[in-house]
Amino acid sequence: MVNNSGAALSGTVLIIDDEVVLARRLAQILRSHGYQTDVAATGAEGRAKMETLFPDVVLMDMQLPDADGNDLVAELNKRFPQSSFIIITGHGSVHSAVEAMKRGAVDYLSKPFDIDEMTFAVREALARRHMADELSTLRAHSPVTESEPPSWPSAAMRQVMTLAERAAKRTSVVLLLGESGTGKNWLARFIHRHSPRAEGPYFTVNCATVSRDLAESEMFGHEPGAFTGSRGRKRGLMELADGGTLVLDEIGDMDPSLQAKLLTFLDTQTFVRVGGEESIRIDTRIFACTNVDIEARVKSGGFRQDLFYRLNVLPIRLPPLRERVEDLPILATHLLNRLSAELRMSPAAVLTADAEARLGSYPWPGNIRELRNVLERALILSHDGQIRAEDLPLPHDGRPLEWCLQVRFPENRSLHAVTADVARDLVREALRRAGTKQEAAALLGLTRHALAHQMKALGLEEDRNQA
Ligand SMILES: Nc1ncnc2c1ncn2[C@@H]1O[C@H](COP(=O)(O)OP(=O)(O)OP(=O)(O)O)[C@@H](O)[C@H]1O
Ligand SMILES: [Mg+2]
Repeated sequence: MVNNSGAALSGTVLIIDDEVVLARRLAQILRSHGYQTDVAATGAEGRAKMETLFPDVVLMDMQLPDADGNDLVAELNKRFPQSSFIIITGHGSVHSAVEAMKRGAVDYLSKPFDIDEMTFAVREALARRHMADELSTLRAHSPVTESEPPSWPSAAMRQVMTLAERAAKRTSVVLLLGESGTGKNWLARFIHRHSPRAEGPYFTVNCATVSRDLAESEMFGHEPGAFTGSRGRKRGLMELADGGTLVLDEIGDMDPSLQAKLLTFLDTQTFVRVGGEESIRIDTRIFACTNVDIEARVKSGGFRQDLFYRLNVLPIRLPPLRERVEDLPILATHLLNRLSAELRMSPAAVLTADAEARLGSYPWPGNIRELRNVLERALILSHDGQIRAEDLPLPHDGRPLEWCLQVRFPENRSLHAVTADVARDLVREALRRAGTKQEAAALLGLTRHALAHQMKALGLEEDRNQA
Protein backbone atom coordinates (compact mmCIF):
# COMPACT_ATOMS: atom_id res chain seq x y z
CA MET A 1 0.00 0.00 0.00
CA VAL A 2 0.96 3.59 -0.40
CA ASN A 3 3.02 4.39 2.58
CA ASN A 4 3.95 7.97 3.16
CA SER A 5 4.39 7.59 6.87
CA GLY A 6 8.12 7.07 6.45
CA ALA A 7 8.25 3.32 6.99
CA ALA A 8 10.13 1.62 4.20
CA LEU A 9 8.63 -1.09 2.06
CA SER A 10 11.14 -3.80 1.33
CA GLY A 11 12.54 -3.93 -2.14
CA THR A 12 15.58 -4.25 -4.35
CA VAL A 13 17.28 -1.20 -5.82
CA LEU A 14 19.82 -1.22 -8.63
CA ILE A 15 22.00 1.86 -9.04
CA ILE A 16 23.49 2.41 -12.48
CA ASP A 17 26.05 5.20 -12.30
CA ASP A 18 29.63 5.50 -13.51
CA GLU A 19 30.51 7.64 -10.50
CA VAL A 20 31.35 4.57 -8.51
CA VAL A 21 31.94 6.33 -5.21
CA LEU A 22 28.56 8.04 -5.35
CA ALA A 23 26.83 4.81 -6.40
CA ARG A 24 28.34 2.88 -3.49
CA ARG A 25 27.41 5.61 -1.07
CA LEU A 26 23.79 5.60 -2.26
CA ALA A 27 23.71 1.81 -1.99
CA GLN A 28 25.02 1.96 1.55
CA ILE A 29 22.37 4.48 2.59
CA LEU A 30 19.59 2.47 0.97
CA ARG A 31 20.80 -0.70 2.70
CA SER A 32 20.64 1.11 6.03
CA HIS A 33 16.95 1.73 5.18
CA GLY A 34 16.40 -1.99 4.73
CA TYR A 35 16.58 -2.26 0.93
CA GLN A 36 18.67 -4.75 -0.97
CA THR A 37 21.01 -3.06 -3.40
CA ASP A 38 23.44 -3.63 -6.22
CA VAL A 39 25.47 -1.26 -8.36
CA ALA A 40 26.51 -1.16 -11.99
CA ALA A 41 29.00 1.28 -13.53
CA THR A 42 27.97 1.06 -17.19
CA GLY A 43 24.86 0.59 -19.28
CA ALA A 44 26.02 -2.89 -20.31
CA GLU A 45 26.62 -3.94 -16.73
CA GLY A 46 23.26 -2.45 -15.75
CA ARG A 47 21.48 -4.42 -18.46
CA ALA A 48 23.13 -7.66 -17.32
CA LYS A 49 22.26 -7.06 -13.67
CA MET A 50 18.64 -6.28 -14.55
CA GLU A 51 18.35 -9.76 -16.00
CA THR A 52 19.30 -11.53 -12.80
CA LEU A 53 18.19 -9.06 -10.18
CA PHE A 54 14.77 -7.91 -11.45
CA PRO A 55 15.03 -4.82 -9.20
CA ASP A 56 11.92 -3.02 -8.00
CA VAL A 57 13.57 0.36 -8.45
CA VAL A 58 16.44 1.46 -10.68
CA LEU A 59 18.32 4.67 -9.95
CA MET A 60 20.01 5.55 -13.20
CA ASP A 61 22.45 8.23 -14.18
CA MET A 62 21.63 9.80 -17.54
CA GLN A 63 25.27 10.20 -18.52
CA LEU A 64 26.80 6.78 -18.88
CA PRO A 65 30.03 6.07 -20.76
CA ASP A 66 28.50 3.49 -23.09
CA ALA A 67 24.83 4.39 -23.45
CA ASP A 68 22.45 7.23 -24.09
CA GLY A 69 20.39 7.57 -20.91
CA ASN A 70 17.11 8.20 -22.71
CA ASP A 71 17.45 5.21 -24.98
CA LEU A 72 18.44 2.99 -22.09
CA VAL A 73 15.41 4.05 -20.01
CA ALA A 74 13.12 3.36 -22.94
CA GLU A 75 14.70 -0.03 -23.59
CA LEU A 76 14.81 -1.22 -19.99
CA ASN A 77 11.36 0.11 -19.18
CA LYS A 78 9.97 -1.91 -22.03
CA ARG A 79 11.85 -5.07 -21.14
CA PHE A 80 11.35 -4.82 -17.38
CA PRO A 81 7.89 -3.38 -16.83
CA GLN A 82 7.94 -4.46 -13.19
CA SER A 83 10.82 -2.08 -12.38
CA SER A 84 10.41 1.64 -11.68
CA PHE A 85 13.09 3.95 -13.06
CA ILE A 86 14.27 7.05 -11.27
CA ILE A 87 16.83 8.98 -13.22
CA ILE A 88 19.69 11.09 -11.98
CA THR A 89 20.47 14.11 -14.11
CA GLY A 90 23.37 16.53 -14.10
CA HIS A 91 22.95 19.93 -12.58
CA GLY A 92 20.19 21.91 -14.24
CA SER A 93 19.39 19.49 -17.05
CA VAL A 94 15.67 19.41 -16.43
CA HIS A 95 15.08 19.05 -20.14
CA SER A 96 16.65 15.60 -20.23
CA ALA A 97 14.64 14.66 -17.13
CA VAL A 98 11.44 15.50 -18.96
CA GLU A 99 12.59 13.42 -21.92
CA ALA A 100 13.29 10.44 -19.65
CA MET A 101 9.90 10.76 -17.96
CA LYS A 102 8.30 10.56 -21.38
CA ARG A 103 10.13 7.31 -21.91
CA GLY A 104 8.89 5.75 -18.74
CA ALA A 105 10.91 7.04 -15.78
CA VAL A 106 8.69 7.70 -12.77
CA ASP A 107 10.81 10.38 -11.11
CA TYR A 108 14.08 12.25 -11.35
CA LEU A 109 16.72 13.61 -9.04
CA SER A 110 18.93 16.44 -10.23
CA LYS A 111 22.43 16.63 -8.87
CA PRO A 112 23.21 17.67 -6.24
CA PHE A 113 20.32 16.06 -4.35
CA ASP A 114 20.08 15.35 -0.69
CA ILE A 115 19.70 11.96 0.90
CA ASP A 116 16.14 12.54 2.07
CA GLU A 117 15.11 13.47 -1.42
CA MET A 118 16.62 10.26 -2.74
CA THR A 119 15.11 7.94 -0.12
CA PHE A 120 11.74 9.66 -0.52
CA ALA A 121 11.79 9.06 -4.27
CA VAL A 122 12.71 5.38 -3.81
CA ARG A 123 10.06 4.88 -1.16
CA GLU A 124 7.40 6.50 -3.29
CA ALA A 125 8.31 4.49 -6.36
CA LEU A 126 8.13 1.30 -4.30
CA ALA A 127 4.82 2.21 -2.75
CA ARG A 128 3.33 2.74 -6.18
CA ARG A 129 4.72 -0.53 -7.46
CA HIS A 130 3.47 -2.28 -4.40
CA MET A 131 -0.04 -1.15 -5.05
CA ALA A 132 -0.08 -2.27 -8.62
CA ASP A 133 -0.41 -6.01 -8.32
CA GLU A 134 3.15 -7.04 -9.08
CA LEU A 135 2.32 -10.66 -9.22
CA SER A 136 -0.24 -10.23 -11.92
CA THR A 137 2.20 -8.13 -13.89
CA LEU A 138 4.82 -10.83 -13.72
CA ARG A 139 2.40 -13.55 -14.64
CA ALA A 140 0.92 -11.59 -17.50
CA HIS A 141 4.39 -11.04 -18.92
CA SER A 142 5.91 -14.45 -18.42
CA PRO A 143 5.31 -16.95 -21.24
CA VAL A 144 2.64 -19.20 -19.69
CA THR A 145 3.03 -19.88 -16.02
CA GLU A 146 -0.48 -21.18 -15.58
CA SER A 147 -1.79 -23.95 -17.71
CA GLU A 148 -4.77 -23.20 -19.88
CA PRO A 149 -8.10 -24.07 -18.28
CA PRO A 150 -9.54 -27.42 -19.15
CA SER A 151 -12.81 -27.57 -20.98
CA TRP A 152 -15.39 -27.34 -18.24
CA PRO A 153 -18.19 -29.90 -17.88
CA SER A 154 -20.67 -27.30 -16.57
CA ALA A 155 -22.71 -25.31 -19.06
CA ALA A 156 -22.43 -22.22 -16.82
CA MET A 157 -18.64 -22.19 -17.00
CA ARG A 158 -18.53 -22.98 -20.70
CA GLN A 159 -20.68 -19.94 -21.30
CA VAL A 160 -18.33 -17.84 -19.17
CA MET A 161 -15.36 -18.97 -21.25
CA THR A 162 -17.18 -18.22 -24.51
CA LEU A 163 -17.86 -14.71 -23.27
CA ALA A 164 -14.25 -14.37 -22.12
CA GLU A 165 -12.91 -15.36 -25.53
CA ARG A 166 -15.25 -12.87 -27.15
CA ALA A 167 -14.09 -10.20 -24.70
CA ALA A 168 -10.45 -10.95 -25.58
CA LYS A 169 -11.12 -9.97 -29.19
CA ARG A 170 -12.73 -6.65 -28.30
CA THR A 171 -11.43 -3.47 -26.74
CA SER A 172 -14.45 -2.56 -24.63
CA VAL A 173 -14.71 -2.45 -20.86
CA VAL A 174 -15.35 -5.80 -19.15
CA LEU A 175 -17.32 -6.03 -15.91
CA LEU A 176 -16.49 -9.16 -13.91
CA LEU A 177 -19.09 -10.10 -11.33
CA GLY A 178 -19.33 -12.92 -8.85
CA GLU A 179 -18.96 -13.92 -5.23
CA SER A 180 -15.60 -13.76 -3.52
CA GLY A 181 -13.16 -16.42 -4.68
CA THR A 182 -15.02 -17.35 -7.87
CA GLY A 183 -12.08 -16.40 -10.08
CA LYS A 184 -12.72 -12.83 -11.26
CA ASN A 185 -9.07 -11.82 -11.16
CA TRP A 186 -8.08 -15.12 -12.66
CA LEU A 187 -10.47 -14.54 -15.58
CA ALA A 188 -9.32 -10.93 -16.01
CA ARG A 189 -5.76 -12.19 -16.51
CA PHE A 190 -6.98 -14.86 -18.89
CA ILE A 191 -8.76 -12.28 -21.05
CA HIS A 192 -5.73 -9.98 -21.07
CA ARG A 193 -3.40 -12.81 -22.03
CA HIS A 194 -5.62 -13.80 -24.93
CA SER A 195 -6.13 -10.27 -26.17
CA PRO A 196 -4.01 -8.42 -28.76
CA ARG A 197 -2.53 -6.43 -25.88
CA ALA A 198 -1.16 -9.53 -24.11
CA GLU A 199 2.37 -8.13 -24.43
CA GLY A 200 1.33 -4.81 -22.94
CA PRO A 201 1.32 -3.95 -19.23
CA TYR A 202 -1.25 -5.42 -16.84
CA PHE A 203 -1.97 -3.77 -13.53
CA THR A 204 -4.52 -4.31 -10.82
CA VAL A 205 -5.57 -1.61 -8.42
CA ASN A 206 -7.83 -2.29 -5.47
CA CYS A 207 -10.33 0.56 -5.24
CA ALA A 208 -11.29 -0.39 -1.68
CA THR A 209 -7.83 -0.18 -0.14
CA VAL A 210 -6.24 2.65 -2.05
CA SER A 211 -6.04 5.57 0.37
CA ARG A 212 -8.66 8.17 -0.32
CA ASP A 213 -6.30 11.15 -0.30
CA LEU A 214 -3.82 9.67 -2.70
CA ALA A 215 -6.23 7.67 -4.81
CA GLU A 216 -6.64 10.23 -7.56
CA SER A 217 -2.94 10.83 -7.95
CA GLU A 218 -2.18 7.11 -7.82
CA MET A 219 -4.61 6.43 -10.60
CA PHE A 220 -4.21 9.50 -12.76
CA GLY A 221 -0.80 10.86 -11.72
CA HIS A 222 0.04 14.40 -10.77
CA GLU A 223 2.03 17.43 -11.85
CA PRO A 224 4.85 18.92 -9.78
CA GLY A 225 3.51 20.76 -6.74
CA ALA A 226 -0.07 19.53 -7.22
CA PHE A 227 -0.36 19.13 -3.45
CA THR A 228 1.84 19.43 -0.38
CA GLY A 229 4.73 17.04 -0.57
CA SER A 230 4.32 16.19 -4.24
CA ARG A 231 7.59 16.52 -6.02
CA GLY A 232 8.16 15.95 -9.66
CA ARG A 233 5.66 14.63 -12.10
CA LYS A 234 4.11 11.24 -11.54
CA ARG A 235 2.44 9.02 -14.02
CA GLY A 236 -0.57 7.25 -12.57
CA LEU A 237 -1.46 3.60 -13.03
CA MET A 238 -3.89 4.54 -15.78
CA GLU A 239 -0.99 5.96 -17.76
CA LEU A 240 1.44 3.19 -16.81
CA ALA A 241 -1.05 0.70 -18.25
CA ASP A 242 -1.10 2.48 -21.62
CA GLY A 243 -1.25 -0.13 -24.37
CA GLY A 244 -2.32 -2.74 -21.84
CA THR A 245 -5.01 -3.40 -19.26
CA LEU A 246 -5.85 -1.85 -15.91
CA VAL A 247 -8.04 -3.93 -13.60
CA LEU A 248 -10.11 -1.91 -11.15
CA ASP A 249 -10.76 -4.38 -8.36
CA GLU A 250 -13.68 -3.88 -5.99
CA ILE A 251 -15.03 -1.10 -8.18
CA GLY A 252 -18.15 -0.90 -5.98
CA ASP A 253 -16.02 0.81 -3.33
CA MET A 254 -14.57 3.47 -5.59
CA ASP A 255 -14.61 6.97 -4.21
CA PRO A 256 -17.34 9.17 -5.81
CA SER A 257 -14.85 11.79 -7.04
CA LEU A 258 -12.88 9.09 -8.81
CA GLN A 259 -16.05 7.62 -10.25
CA ALA A 260 -16.64 10.93 -12.06
CA LYS A 261 -13.10 11.04 -13.41
CA LEU A 262 -13.26 7.42 -14.54
CA LEU A 263 -16.50 8.10 -16.38
CA THR A 264 -14.87 10.97 -18.25
CA PHE A 265 -11.95 8.76 -19.16
CA LEU A 266 -14.23 5.99 -20.45
CA ASP A 267 -16.14 8.47 -22.56
CA THR A 268 -13.17 10.33 -24.01
CA GLN A 269 -10.07 8.15 -23.50
CA THR A 270 -8.49 11.24 -22.02
CA PHE A 271 -7.77 12.50 -18.52
CA VAL A 272 -5.91 15.29 -16.75
CA ARG A 273 -3.24 14.63 -14.12
CA VAL A 274 -3.92 16.09 -10.67
CA GLY A 275 -2.84 19.73 -10.72
CA GLY A 276 -2.44 19.65 -14.48
CA GLU A 277 -4.21 21.26 -17.41
CA GLU A 278 -3.11 19.18 -20.33
CA SER A 279 -5.54 16.52 -21.39
CA ILE A 280 -3.73 13.25 -22.00
CA ARG A 281 -4.96 10.62 -24.42
CA ILE A 282 -4.07 7.00 -23.74
CA ASP A 283 -5.05 3.55 -24.85
CA THR A 284 -5.65 1.68 -21.60
CA ARG A 285 -8.29 -1.01 -21.49
CA ILE A 286 -10.35 -1.10 -18.31
CA PHE A 287 -11.66 -4.21 -16.54
CA ALA A 288 -13.77 -3.75 -13.42
CA CYS A 289 -14.38 -6.45 -10.79
CA THR A 290 -16.82 -6.56 -7.91
CA ASN A 291 -18.29 -9.08 -5.52
CA VAL A 292 -20.95 -6.72 -4.17
CA ASP A 293 -24.37 -6.24 -5.69
CA ILE A 294 -23.45 -3.16 -7.66
CA GLU A 295 -26.98 -2.54 -8.90
CA ALA A 296 -28.16 -2.39 -5.29
CA ARG A 297 -25.39 0.09 -4.64
CA VAL A 298 -26.60 2.20 -7.57
CA LYS A 299 -30.10 2.17 -6.08
CA SER A 300 -28.85 3.22 -2.66
CA GLY A 301 -26.89 6.10 -4.20
CA GLY A 302 -23.41 4.73 -3.44
CA PHE A 303 -22.49 4.20 -7.06
CA ARG A 304 -23.12 6.44 -10.07
CA GLN A 305 -25.77 5.05 -12.36
CA ASP A 306 -24.20 6.52 -15.50
CA LEU A 307 -20.86 4.90 -14.64
CA PHE A 308 -22.57 1.58 -13.99
CA TYR A 309 -24.19 1.69 -17.44
CA ARG A 310 -20.85 2.60 -18.98
CA LEU A 311 -19.13 -0.35 -17.25
CA ASN A 312 -21.90 -2.81 -17.91
CA VAL A 313 -21.15 -3.17 -21.64
CA LEU A 314 -19.81 -6.70 -21.39
CA PRO A 315 -20.71 -8.18 -18.01
CA ILE A 316 -19.43 -11.65 -17.16
CA ARG A 317 -20.82 -13.30 -14.05
CA LEU A 318 -18.71 -16.08 -12.56
CA PRO A 319 -20.92 -18.77 -11.05
CA PRO A 320 -20.35 -19.81 -7.43
CA LEU A 321 -18.73 -23.23 -7.08
CA ARG A 322 -21.89 -24.77 -5.62
CA GLU A 323 -23.64 -24.03 -8.93
CA ARG A 324 -21.00 -25.85 -10.94
CA VAL A 325 -20.39 -29.04 -8.93
CA GLU A 326 -19.82 -30.95 -12.19
CA ASP A 327 -16.56 -29.00 -12.53
CA LEU A 328 -15.27 -29.99 -9.10
CA PRO A 329 -13.29 -33.13 -10.02
CA ILE A 330 -11.54 -31.47 -12.94
CA LEU A 331 -10.92 -28.24 -11.03
CA ALA A 332 -9.64 -30.08 -7.96
CA THR A 333 -7.26 -32.15 -10.08
CA HIS A 334 -6.08 -29.03 -11.90
CA LEU A 335 -5.43 -27.26 -8.59
CA LEU A 336 -3.73 -30.32 -7.10
CA ASN A 337 -1.36 -30.56 -10.05
CA ARG A 338 -0.41 -26.94 -9.61
CA LEU A 339 -0.07 -27.16 -5.83
CA SER A 340 1.98 -30.36 -6.09
CA ALA A 341 4.32 -28.61 -8.52
CA GLU A 342 4.61 -25.63 -6.17
CA LEU A 343 5.45 -27.95 -3.27
CA ARG A 344 7.84 -29.90 -5.53
CA MET A 345 5.86 -33.11 -5.16
CA SER A 346 6.21 -35.53 -7.99
CA PRO A 347 4.10 -37.31 -9.08
CA ALA A 348 1.21 -34.98 -8.27
CA ALA A 349 -1.12 -36.00 -5.44
CA VAL A 350 -4.45 -37.57 -6.41
CA LEU A 351 -7.89 -37.66 -4.83
CA THR A 352 -9.48 -40.92 -3.81
CA ALA A 353 -13.08 -41.54 -4.91
CA ASP A 354 -14.45 -40.90 -1.40
CA ALA A 355 -12.51 -37.60 -1.21
CA GLU A 356 -14.02 -36.55 -4.52
CA ALA A 357 -17.51 -37.38 -3.23
CA ARG A 358 -16.82 -35.39 -0.07
CA LEU A 359 -15.83 -32.32 -2.11
CA GLY A 360 -19.13 -32.57 -3.96
CA SER A 361 -21.21 -32.57 -0.79
CA TYR A 362 -19.78 -29.35 0.61
CA PRO A 363 -21.26 -25.97 -0.46
CA TRP A 364 -17.96 -24.00 -0.75
CA PRO A 365 -19.04 -20.59 0.51
CA GLY A 366 -15.47 -19.37 -0.18
CA ASN A 367 -15.54 -20.83 -3.70
CA ILE A 368 -12.32 -21.68 -5.56
CA ARG A 369 -10.15 -19.87 -3.04
CA GLU A 370 -11.53 -22.09 -0.26
CA LEU A 371 -11.13 -25.21 -2.40
CA ARG A 372 -7.54 -24.28 -3.10
CA ASN A 373 -6.81 -23.73 0.61
CA VAL A 374 -8.47 -27.01 1.64
CA LEU A 375 -6.48 -28.93 -0.98
CA GLU A 376 -3.27 -27.23 0.02
CA ARG A 377 -3.72 -28.19 3.67
CA ALA A 378 -4.71 -31.74 2.72
CA LEU A 379 -1.65 -32.00 0.51
CA ILE A 380 0.67 -31.01 3.31
CA LEU A 381 -0.94 -33.61 5.60
CA SER A 382 -1.02 -36.48 3.12
CA HIS A 383 1.82 -38.99 3.34
CA ASP A 384 1.47 -41.18 0.31
CA GLY A 385 0.36 -38.84 -2.47
CA GLN A 386 -3.28 -39.84 -1.97
CA ILE A 387 -5.85 -37.50 -0.52
CA ARG A 388 -8.66 -39.26 1.30
CA ALA A 389 -11.95 -37.85 2.52
CA GLU A 390 -10.66 -37.72 6.11
CA ASP A 391 -7.64 -35.66 5.01
CA LEU A 392 -9.91 -32.83 3.88
CA PRO A 393 -10.22 -30.16 6.57
CA LEU A 394 -13.95 -29.59 6.15
CA PRO A 395 -16.73 -29.22 8.74
CA HIS A 396 -17.48 -32.65 10.17
CA ASP A 397 -21.15 -33.29 9.66
CA GLY A 398 -20.92 -32.70 5.93
CA ARG A 399 -24.18 -30.80 5.81
CA PRO A 400 -24.23 -27.41 4.15
CA LEU A 401 -23.46 -24.61 6.55
CA GLU A 402 -26.66 -22.79 5.72
CA TRP A 403 -25.87 -19.83 7.86
CA CYS A 404 -22.57 -19.33 6.08
CA LEU A 405 -24.38 -19.09 2.80
CA GLN A 406 -26.98 -16.76 4.21
CA VAL A 407 -24.40 -14.20 5.20
CA ARG A 408 -24.82 -11.62 2.47
CA PHE A 409 -22.29 -9.12 3.72
CA PRO A 410 -24.94 -6.50 4.38
CA GLU A 411 -23.89 -2.90 3.89
CA ASN A 412 -22.65 -0.88 6.84
CA ARG A 413 -22.36 -3.85 9.17
CA SER A 414 -19.17 -4.95 10.78
CA LEU A 415 -17.80 -8.47 10.96
CA HIS A 416 -18.47 -8.25 14.66
CA ALA A 417 -22.18 -7.53 14.18
CA VAL A 418 -22.56 -10.28 11.59
CA THR A 419 -20.78 -12.91 13.70
CA ALA A 420 -22.85 -11.87 16.73
CA ASP A 421 -25.99 -12.57 14.67
CA VAL A 422 -24.67 -15.97 13.71
CA ALA A 423 -23.70 -16.75 17.33
CA ARG A 424 -27.15 -15.65 18.52
CA ASP A 425 -28.85 -17.97 16.01
CA LEU A 426 -26.64 -20.89 17.00
CA VAL A 427 -27.30 -20.36 20.71
CA ARG A 428 -31.06 -20.12 20.14
CA GLU A 429 -31.00 -23.24 18.00
CA ALA A 430 -29.00 -25.16 20.62
CA LEU A 431 -31.47 -24.09 23.33
CA ARG A 432 -34.36 -25.16 21.14
CA ARG A 433 -32.89 -28.59 20.50
CA ALA A 434 -31.53 -29.30 23.95
CA GLY A 435 -33.57 -30.24 26.99
CA THR A 436 -31.46 -28.29 29.42
CA LYS A 437 -28.97 -25.43 29.38
CA GLN A 438 -26.33 -27.96 30.30
CA GLU A 439 -27.09 -29.91 27.11
CA ALA A 440 -27.27 -26.76 25.01
CA ALA A 441 -23.87 -25.75 26.35
CA ALA A 442 -22.52 -29.20 25.44
CA LEU A 443 -23.88 -28.86 21.88
CA LEU A 444 -22.01 -25.60 21.55
CA GLY A 445 -18.85 -26.95 23.13
CA LEU A 446 -19.16 -24.55 26.06
CA THR A 447 -19.40 -24.94 29.81
CA ARG A 448 -22.71 -24.03 31.41
CA HIS A 449 -21.03 -20.96 32.83
CA ALA A 450 -19.56 -19.89 29.49
CA LEU A 451 -22.96 -20.25 27.85
CA ALA A 452 -24.56 -17.98 30.45
CA HIS A 453 -21.80 -15.47 29.81
CA GLN A 454 -22.28 -15.66 26.03
CA MET A 455 -26.03 -15.23 26.34
CA LYS A 456 -25.55 -12.12 28.38
CA ALA A 457 -23.04 -10.72 25.90
CA LEU A 458 -25.38 -11.46 23.00
CA GLY A 459 -28.34 -9.88 24.74
CA LEU A 460 -30.30 -13.14 25.00
CA GLU A 461 -32.69 -13.48 27.92
CA GLU A 462 -31.93 -16.19 30.49
CA ASP A 463 -35.10 -18.15 30.90
CA ARG A 464 -35.44 -18.67 34.64
CA ASN A 465 -37.54 -21.78 34.20
CA GLN A 466 -34.84 -23.68 32.40
CA ALA A 467 -32.30 -25.63 34.36
N1 LIG B 1 -10.38 -21.50 -13.38
C1 LIG B 1 -9.46 -21.52 -12.45
N2 LIG B 1 -8.46 -22.42 -12.50
C2 LIG B 1 -7.54 -22.47 -11.54
N3 LIG B 1 -7.50 -21.66 -10.49
C3 LIG B 1 -8.45 -20.74 -10.38
C4 LIG B 1 -9.47 -20.62 -11.35
N4 LIG B 1 -10.29 -19.62 -10.99
C5 LIG B 1 -9.78 -19.14 -9.83
N5 LIG B 1 -8.69 -19.82 -9.47
C6 LIG B 1 -7.91 -19.60 -8.24
O1 LIG B 1 -8.83 -19.33 -7.17
C7 LIG B 1 -8.37 -18.31 -6.32
C8 LIG B 1 -9.39 -17.18 -6.26
O2 LIG B 1 -9.51 -16.57 -7.53
P1 LIG B 1 -9.61 -14.99 -7.72
O3 LIG B 1 -8.62 -14.30 -6.85
O4 LIG B 1 -9.55 -14.71 -9.17
O5 LIG B 1 -11.08 -14.75 -7.16
P2 LIG B 1 -11.94 -13.40 -7.09
O6 LIG B 1 -13.25 -13.70 -7.70
O7 LIG B 1 -11.15 -12.28 -7.68
O8 LIG B 1 -12.12 -13.21 -5.53
P3 LIG B 1 -12.35 -11.83 -4.67
O9 LIG B 1 -13.72 -11.33 -4.98
O10 LIG B 1 -12.24 -12.30 -3.25
O11 LIG B 1 -11.26 -10.89 -5.08
C9 LIG B 1 -7.02 -17.91 -6.87
O12 LIG B 1 -6.03 -18.62 -6.16
C10 LIG B 1 -7.07 -18.35 -8.31
O13 LIG B 1 -5.77 -18.62 -8.82
MG1 LIG C 1 -10.33 -10.60 -6.71
